[in-house]
Amino acid sequence: MGLTGSGKTYREEREIRTVHRVLVLTPYPPDYEYGAIPLDYQEAWKALAKYPQRSCRIVTAYPPGKKNVIPFTDKIARFAYHHPGWVDVLVLDECQRLRVKRDVSDDLAILIDEGRHVNLNVWAIGRRPIQTPMLLRSQCQTQVSFRQNSQRDIVVLEDYYGDNAEKARTLGEFEFLRHDDDKLGVYHYSKDNELINIYS
Ligand SMILES: Nc1ncnc2c1ncn2[C@@H]1O[C@H](COP(=O)(O)OP(=O)(O)OP(=O)(O)O)[C@@H](O)[C@H]1O
Ligand SMILES: [Mg+2]
Repeated sequence: MGLTGSGKTYREEREIRTVHRVLVLTPYPPDYEYGAIPLDYQEAWKALAKYPQRSCRIVTAYPPGKKNVIPFTDKIARFAYHHPGWVDVLVLDECQRLRVKRDVSDDLAILIDEGRHVNLNVWAIGRRPIQTPMLLRSQCQTQVSFRQNSQRDIVVLEDYYGDNAEKARTLGEFEFLRHDDDKLGVYHYSKDNELINIYS
């Protein structure tokens, strides 16, 4: 989580290098990001069909039109859940857009709840904790938060960081809080890709 320009994509791109097969779902035809040219839905589906041969390591896909973000994500989630080993990490960019009235759609909920049983990790990226679907908030094993300044977002961060959530207000540029189940650290990502624990 982090406001615009806080360093989410920068950090994500570095984390992605450590993973074999990554599928990034993004609601927009984005600029060139994550080291992969974004594909529209049809092309992405074709590229993904070849995934078991590891012909490509990373695919970025966007849905056909804004109204299709949720059905598109649901279809991918359903396929991923039923084809273990197809992808290792599913990245949900702008995850606030995946909210429906009852939180997230059904197939995505199954994947978030049970993806670990089929060795599939979900990485959700968004700007504001308060806008993040509840299931993503409650099921995440690792939470990373860059600087936040709204009280409503800080309150959400208290679930992970307790009183330390206030530290989110005073983080420096590209610094972040990180919650790994029970561990707490304040980290920043240095230019040579080293994760530095400033204090814990
Ligand atoms: N740790 C870092 N060290 C040096 N530069 C960084 C670091 N993190 C981010 N930057 C630079 O800051 C700019 C903004 O970062 P980034 O694109 O990751 O933001 P973002 O959180 O993804 O924003 P948005 O919500 O708008 O997508 C980029 O030009 C990026 O290269
Ligand atoms: Mg970004």
